[in-house]
Amino acid sequence: MSPECRGERQEALHSAGSLARDKHFGKTAFVRAVVEVSNFCREDCSYCAMRRSNRSLARRRLDPEKIFDWIAAACPPTVTDINIQSGEDPVAVREVILPLIALLKARTGYGISVCPGTLDPKISRELKDAGADFYVIKLETADERHYAEIRAPGNFAERLATIRQLAADGWLVSSGFILGVPGEPADAAQRALGLLSELPLAGASVSPFIPGPETPLAGNPPGNLEDVLNCVALMRLANPRRIIPAVSAMELGSPGTYARALSAGANLATINLTPAVFRDEYPIYTQDRLIMDEERVLSAISAAGLTPSRTGISEFLRNF
Ligand code: 5AD
Repeated sequence: MSPECRGERQEALHSAGSLARDKHFGKTAFVRAVVEVSNFCREDCSYCAMRRSNRSLARRRLDPEKIFDWIAAACPPTVTDINIQSGEDPVAVREVILPLIALLKARTGYGISVCPGTLDPKISRELKDAGADFYVIKLETADERHYAEIRAPGNFAERLATIRQLAADGWLVSSGFILGVPGEPADAAQRALGLLSELPLAGASVSPFIPGPETPLAGNPPGNLEDVLNCVALMRLANPRRIIPAVSAMELGSPGTYARALSAGANLATINLTPAVFRDEYPIYTQDRLIMDEERVLSAISAAGLTPSRTGISEFLRNF
């Protein structure tokens, strides 16, 4: 089945994706909360509004104790894992992320995932020693020339090597791609699916391209949501035991798409817990992005006929 299929073939693909998820994980979705802790970024990716050339953005790092207090007060009970996200900002790793992990480990039972970009191996090891165990690092695109053209971090070979190294160091690694970034080859989806399938990953994702404000790619059309949903199902069928998220960028294009991703085989939903004051300054994917709060996430999960998992991601994977 191809990423472009529609009609009956598409319905059959999504049902097959959903069944494959049920077989390995049951009719459940993991629920994590994301906190975005720094919007400083040393990269300059042409698709991302957090790129360092975006001078219109007020840059800020949050205080680890304040974020911890916020999580303790505001995190809904269904959440089992906290995803700490930031721009590629080694200063934030030291000043915010490491202390926040220490607080979470000492005082809560949450599983911890991080999405800090490419770091010096010494500092990623510190993150792991502190108690994080799930590392999110996207490929963005599977085409080396396209990777360079959109100015994704470092270079393609290095990104692949980093993913492999993190997995070898004992991380549960999740990677993924953006579908519909201008300039991608015609077979971008097939190639990304093929490459992700071969990498040593615990998780995989696909997100539609959202044209970001204040970026060289602003004004381009967004990625095709039907193709994105098909990629979710194809990923599930290729690697049925992976953690595959529904992502908020899907819902932005057309309400209901988030639930459809869960109905096509995704098994992870994310509640956005970034304090509202900081949210607008954290512009992936666009300044008025749709916020997936607890209510939206729980209703998408039930619309897909699922229930929130009582087990956390890493706890589950350890016993898989
Ligand atoms: N559209 C879709 N995804 C994007 N990201 C950044 N900019 C965009 C965009 N315009 C994603 C990238 C990055 C993650 C943190 O956000 O995949 O790795």
